[in-house]
Amino acid sequence: MERKMHILVVDDESAIRESLLEILEEEGYDVHCAESAAAARLMLSGQIDLVLLDIKLGADNGIDLLREIKAQRPFLPVIMISGHGTVALTAEAFKLGAHEFMEKPLRLMQVRACVRNALEAVRLKSRVLEQERARYPRPVYQSSVMKRLFQQATRLASLREPVIITGPSGSGKELVAHALHYEGVRREGPFFATNAASMPVTLAEDELFGHEKGAFTDAGKQRIGCIETAHGGTLFLDEIADLNPQIQAKLLRVLETGSIVRLGATQPVKVDVRFIAVTHKNLAAMVDDGTFRHDLWYRLCAFVLNVPALSERTEDIAPLAASFLGKICAELGCAKTFAPDALAFLQSLPWPGNVRELRHTVTRAVVFSDCEVIDRQAIAAVVPAEAADPVKRTMTGYDSCNYREAREKFEKDYFQAVLERAGGNITMAAAAIGMAQSNLSRKLKELGLR
Ligand SMILES: Nc1ncnc2c1ncn2[C@@H]1O[C@H](COP(=O)(O)OP(=O)(O)OP(=O)(O)O)[C@@H](O)[C@H]1O
Ligand SMILES: [Mg+2]
Repeated sequence: MERKMHILVVDDESAIRESLLEILEEEGYDVHCAESAAAARLMLSGQIDLVLLDIKLGADNGIDLLREIKAQRPFLPVIMISGHGTVALTAEAFKLGAHEFMEKPLRLMQVRACVRNALEAVRLKSRVLEQERARYPRPVYQSSVMKRLFQQATRLASLREPVIITGPSGSGKELVAHALHYEGVRREGPFFATNAASMPVTLAEDELFGHEKGAFTDAGKQRIGCIETAHGGTLFLDEIADLNPQIQAKLLRVLETGSIVRLGATQPVKVDVRFIAVTHKNLAAMVDDGTFRHDLWYRLCAFVLNVPALSERTEDIAPLAASFLGKICAELGCAKTFAPDALAFLQSLPWPGNVRELRHTVTRAVVFSDCEVIDRQAIAAVVPAEAADPVKRTMTGYDSCNYREAREKFEKDYFQAVLERAGGNITMAAAAIGMAQSNLSRKLKELGLR
């Protein structure tokens, strides 16, 4: 069953409020009335799907309130009610994004049709959004570090500030970005994902900024780029570390000015986009060695969310595995379960491919095991042998080493892991392993790790 739609009527004339209330309630809507901008503001914080707004609002100005509503909820439709002598205001209201107009004196048929059309558009839009949203699963987690991460994402969701998400491959960076989008006011706008690594340098600019007709030889018609497409929503920029330096400079300008210039255009276009930049590389270190622009880094780095590797949050493994198992069984129409030793075994594995690898492993185990209960053996049969064997795992790559080489390899692996855990910060890394910072620095230099 469709949920009841909520309409807010804002008019200073009580006769108009009352007649709209009567008409719209009869149509089955939930109607809220406000006689002033202040009263309307209070009601707008609750659930409202459509606003009918008087252009002349007694002491207040309907146009100002429209501007406010559009700034906060750009996708909430507003039907303006206009009276005599408000033609000039009408044009301004359209520019601000008013959905439609109804002229006083209001006629029953007009009101019904106008409201139905606007709400139909709202329903369509929310159906599209639900489909969009369903493309991403609800995140599953149990660990306190992930609880805190998603809590932070929720707090950041309604800000316009850019966010950087870091973390190893398959750890769930895109899922965190999606939460940032869907938990905030931008959820009604687009979530547009693009990948800097997959953009050839020559096309990256066109991809992001678009072009005007005739901008270059093949530009037969205008093209809108990713940034403009994400207007009103979020642009998810994956693998930002691979962005060409020239484009980095242009992106910085977008962040500073809130506008873009299409290739071949002379005028900038205002864009309202929240940038989420993603990387599995250490951007701060890239700034140090000059491969990433420091000014862009400083513009982006106010909020950095780090998604830890799955091996650093083993509490998440059992709930994730159970959730994947449930989904796969539902798809295959079977009912399998894990034996306790299977879960313990899953928790002991290293998961270099993180959550994605866990999902693939559970899928393979469900598909290939013949029993209803998936035990340790069924899982061992579908993971790489060196992952399943802790001795082989830690000893991988030592086969042809002499003692000196083996020691150097061990030291490299060890210090690399320590550095990664400390986010590249030498002071923190030294403190974590009880080593003097100067000794650690020397060691890293010796091993060629810095
Ligand atoms: N907490 C989670 N709950 C449920 N599914 C998850 C979770 N984290 C990750 N996944 C799933 O694991 C897969 C990888 O996640 P995602 O694409 O977000 O990772 P990523 O960090 O962006 O990876 P890459 O670096 O390869 O781009 C996806 O299928 C995603 O749905
Ligand atoms: Mg990703």
